Amino acid sequence: MSDTKNWIKALDTTKVARGDVARWDHDGRSYAIFRTDSDAFYATDDICTHEYAHISDGYVEGTTIECPRHAGCFDFRTGQALNPPVCVNLRTFPVKVEDGAIYIDIA
Ligand code: FES
Repeated sequence: MSDTKNWIKALDTTKVARGDVARWDHDGRSYAIFRTDSDAFYATDDICTHEYAHISDGYVEGTTIECPRHAGCFDFRTGQALNPPVCVNLRTFPVKVEDGAIYIDIA
């Protein structure tokens, strides 16, 4: 089966620590790339759905990211908004890792 995704190379895996998040800017947009303690990678929009804040400046706890501005939380695996004031989910993007690099399908 062919790979129909539009993969774009984002960051080297070494740029995202386990249990942390890193920001990746591309084509005028910001993305948040997460790495869990068990080495799973996820990507979401980096701008909070509440007001303007980069969630990659927030705090990772397990599979949750807490926005640095008003402490709204999202599950970064699904983008689900978990508590007020956030009520709109974050957009998520498919991720793959190949040869030490993280690729995102931002289409
Ligand atoms: S800007 Fe993120 S919770 Fe308000």
